[in-house]
Amino acid sequence: MYYSSAILLFAGLASAQVAEYGQCGGNGWTGSTTCVSPYTCQYQNDWYSQCLPATGSGSTTSSTSTKSTTTVSSTTKTTSTTKTTSTTKTTSTTSAPVSTSTVFPTTNGLNFTIDGETSYYAGTNSYWIGFLTNDADVDLVMQHLYDSGLRILRVWGFNDVNTVPSSGTVWYQYLSSGNVTINTGADGLQRLDYVVSSAEKHGIKLIINFVNNWSDYGGIAAYVSAFGGSATSWYTNTAAQAAYQNYIKTVVSRYSSSSAIFSWELANEPRCNGCDPSVIYNWVKTTSAYIKSLDSKHMVCIGDEGFGLNTDSDGSYPFTYAEGLNFTMNIGIDTIDFGTLHLYPSSWGEASTWGSTWIKAHGDACTAAGKPCLLEEYGYPSDHCSVEAPWQTAALDTKGIAADMFWQWGDTLSTGQTSDDGNTIFYGSSDFTCLVTDHVAAI
Ligand SMILES: *[C@@H]1O[C@H](CO)[C@@H](O)[C@H](O)[C@H]1NC(C)=O
Ligand SMILES: *[C@@H]1O[C@H](CO)[C@@H](O)[C@H](O)[C@H]1NC(C)=O
Ligand SMILES: *[C@@H]1O[C@H](CO)[C@@H](O)[C@H](O)[C@H]1NC(C)=O
Ligand SMILES: *[C@@H]1O[C@H](CO)[C@@H](O)[C@H](O)[C@H]1NC(C)=O
Repeated sequence: MYYSSAILLFAGLASAQVAEYGQCGGNGWTGSTTCVSPYTCQYQNDWYSQCLPATGSGSTTSSTSTKSTTTVSSTTKTTSTTKTTSTTKTTSTTSAPVSTSTVFPTTNGLNFTIDGETSYYAGTNSYWIGFLTNDADVDLVMQHLYDSGLRILRVWGFNDVNTVPSSGTVWYQYLSSGNVTINTGADGLQRLDYVVSSAEKHGIKLIINFVNNWSDYGGIAAYVSAFGGSATSWYTNTAAQAAYQNYIKTVVSRYSSSSAIFSWELANEPRCNGCDPSVIYNWVKTTSAYIKSLDSKHMVCIGDEGFGLNTDSDGSYPFTYAEGLNFTMNIGIDTIDFGTLHLYPSSWGEASTWGSTWIKAHGDACTAAGKPCLLEEYGYPSDHCSVEAPWQTAALDTKGIAADMFWQWGDTLSTGQTSDDGNTIFYGSSDFTCLVTDHVAAI
């Protein structure tokens, strides 16, 4: 029962026909322009045509070759880019945990709305919570988050391995050529299930991502090891993308009806070093449309660091396109609901005070795009309070920045203190008073 959804992938799937939501045209496109039935190739912009349901709007650029007469199933599928506006609103204004909420978080102009309330929000990150094996530890963290006034928690929704670990160690997906196995067992996605159900009980909203750029918990490197290619060709590797989409489908379908999902997120810090920004753009467009086709009601974001921006640029490294990202281009994708940015000046060769430049630049870019920006990770290895509190103030005061989430939450569990990577803010510490209690009060 642990390995209940083994899937075999066939290289032969890469036929002449492009799969649903795949790219089928655009300047420089050399691949196939024919979509699998009943999808048709529809013009999106000069660089991108996409295989969309035949009923979708947009002009078709597919060839007029004989259409297959295969009957499409009778489901009334729409292109599902419309945001839900008809969710049941709770009239309650109580501050108690909203365990019965059926309202999904949404954007509202440049802000976010959670449980019917449009406001600035604060949150944090815990990459490890879905890998804990003790339910009480998960509940303890959720209760502390709720008590602190933090409403959004970003967790790792992936844990990819190339070798199945010994029993008792949590893993979500095993990747090898010819055998991709998603672990839906007690040491697999059932641990993420518990995180989602605990979040529901405690009124916490989750951002769940699907792959890591970095090799922690497998990441793109684990796919490369199974399917070949490289960290940069992963974005266009057919077998790797098929496995990635299959994994997304498994996770999204488990929680598509949960009000505890804030947003689905494509990846943690996707980069494509030295690539043309169209590579990541095309991957974001294809993947986000695929997620919306599975679940049109929840938000979708990228999880990138916010690199590649000419708005307010000072020309320094994070503003450049060196990592293959163009923030302005990506936030314009209609199946992306909001922008993300991270802030690690000490890793990027910047002074700590440069943080406000970065925040302002993204606030302006997001305002121009008409979508909110989420400062979803930030950290500094020393002087947490004096360095990061001014960033929080800048985020709160900047139009277009709708929420911030420090990296990372620290707590004391049944097993002792959680991971301390130098950026950790431990519950109850003096840094915590400054960066959580005082910040939440300022909101
Ligand atoms: C695929 O891998 C899983 C995990 O190691 C294993 O349990 C399963 O037997 C494998 N299936 C096949 C067909 O090799
Ligand atoms: C993450 O992205 C960077 C930049 O493209 C790349 O150099 C690195 O190899 C990636 N990490 C992994 C584990 O592939
Ligand atoms: C980035 O995207 C914007 C908006 O599409 C575009 O105007 C700009 O030329 C792009 N820059 C690069 C280097 O891709
Ligand atoms: C949305 O956020 C802006 C600041 O970014 C604020 O001025 C405005 O009042 C907010 N709107 C609502 C409805 O809360």
